[in-house]
Amino acid sequence: MEAALPSAEELTAAGLRLEIQGAVAKVTLARPERRNAMTGRTWTTLAHIGHGLPESVRIVVISGDGSSFSSGIDLAMFSPEGVPGETSLMARIAAGDGDRSEIDALIASYQAGYLWLRRPDIVSVAAVRGHAIGAGFQLALACDLRVLADDARLCMKEPALGLVPDLTGTKPLVDLVGVNRAIELCLTARTVSAAEARELRLAELVVPGDELEAAVADLTAALLAVPAEAATATKALLLGATEAGLEEQAAAERAAQIDRLTALARAAG
Ligand code: CAA
Repeated sequence: MEAALPSAEELTAAGLRLEIQGAVAKVTLARPERRNAMTGRTWTTLAHIGHGLPESVRIVVISGDGSSFSSGIDLAMFSPEGVPGETSLMARIAAGDGDRSEIDALIASYQAGYLWLRRPDIVSVAAVRGHAIGAGFQLALACDLRVLADDARLCMKEPALGLVPDLTGTKPLVDLVGVNRAIELCLTARTVSAAEARELRLAELVVPGDELEAAVADLTAALLAVPAEAATATKALLLGATEAGLEEQAAAERAAQIDRLTALARAAG
């Protein structure tokens, strides 16, 4: 049985909106007055959405209200007062409250909001306009595909704040741009324009700002035109391809194809 989705109140408290129409789920970062800054609750609620997603959903589109995709972590999370109702990691550590394993579990619960976006049964698409900073850049990196408006600005800000990127972004970044470029981008914390993002393979597509929704809709339609089971099996194969050796990957292709042929033969018979 599918888990329940977050309630409307939980989504609002997390700064999120969720619309599910058939095979498409649209997750919107919805705190434009804070440039869609995110808190721990945003990430745990994203994880909750992942758990509760109906099986019929094949495409997840993440976008942001207003001029920025996301300004990253809500900087109030670092203040002594913190954000009401949220756990401030800094305050907890400063107070000696919680051992290393508890803090580790808390960060893991935030990362869970990002990790499900690579699940083989869905394709996740980040539709990015304006800034995607820190945790916001990592959210875009957590998606399978990134469609950028031409005003997009990407920045891995964490090292400039004395921190490391810890919301699952380092692996996709290195996979996409290579370790050397990833070192340069992170350790300078510089901002990458949409045009450079395309060159660095950080974007599948860059479009004029007023064409972002239409471009994502076209991409969604094209992705949905492929049968769901074949899409899932193919994504699983592709995700395994980086780590697998050639022979191992060839064996995985054979196994997946036999499953596909069996299913198609059954459906035809
Ligand atoms: N947290 C909380 N509030 C934020 C915010 C953030 N990350 N980013 C913007 N805001 C608030 C601003 O304080 C401002 O509030 P007021 O209207 O009350 O003054 C409002 O949103 C609008 O912001 P700006 O006027 O600055 O908007 P802009 O369009 O000119 O600039 C921006 C947008 C480039 C995103 C800029 O706001 C900015 O640089 N924000 C901070 C980005 C940042 O450092 N994020 C943390 C990255 S590290 C991380 O995410 C991961 C981690 O774990 C450390």
